[in-house]
Amino acid sequence: MRKPFIAANWKMNKTIIETAEFINAFLPMVNDVMDVDILIAPPFTALSEASRLLKSSNVMLGAQNVYYEEKGAFTGEISPGMLLSAGCSCVIIGHSERREYFSETDEIVNKKIKTARNNNLEVILCIGESLEQREADKTFEVLGGQLAGSLKDLPLDAITIAYEPIWAIGTGKTATKEQANETHEYIRGWLRKNKDGADNVRIQYGGSVKPDNIEALMSESEVDGALVGGASLKPDSFAGIVKGAAKNN
Ligand code: 13P
Repeated sequence: MRKPFIAANWKMNKTIIETAEFINAFLPMVNDVMDVDILIAPPFTALSEASRLLKSSNVMLGAQNVYYEEKGAFTGEISPGMLLSAGCSCVIIGHSERREYFSETDEIVNKKIKTARNNNLEVILCIGESLEQREADKTFEVLGGQLAGSLKDLPLDAITIAYEPIWAIGTGKTATKEQANETHEYIRGWLRKNKDGADNVRIQYGGSVKPDNIEALMSESEVDGALVGGASLKPDSFAGIVKGAAKNN
């Protein structure tokens, strides 16, 4: 039985003060939820403050990116050790926005996951197809390629997969629960065929998840949680998603 995992990807939103305001409002709303893993990934600048406020709570802290070197002359980059020292236990790697706007390839994603895992950070690996790829019936081919490249020479320990169809991100257009489940089934099948321990891997769905569609998505056997963007920016809305996932557990 895989424990539901709901994660907030705040992207480039919230100052330190806004982060503190969110956490102070959010924690009392979810402090009785024990059967869902909850994670917040604020921007780098707010990590330390978030870590201080989340201490001894039931909410974990993650980062949205990491570099694949341990230290050195890489202006503007952040190492896994820095994330650990800021209180993170997890990092999101390979988000489609990083792939699209910052030219991250599967090879770079693979290097980042390796360095993160060497430092004992849990990883949420994002994969997903564009609208053109889906319409051309290339979804499984694209996802298989992303999985093969990103997970090359890596075991599945402490890795969560986030399936985020690019056409559903920030568009208000959610994949149907059937579309999500069918695609997650493909991902699970790929993992079973190529790696050990596939049945323990959690597969989150991401793309316009909201309080009013989380229950339907979670009712599907292969949907183990969600990676939430826009609807994670307000405490009541993100708490609604966490509680919707708890209900379906
Ligand atoms: P939205 O929930 O805003 O569609 O974003 C999804 C996402 O990209 C989470 O990583």
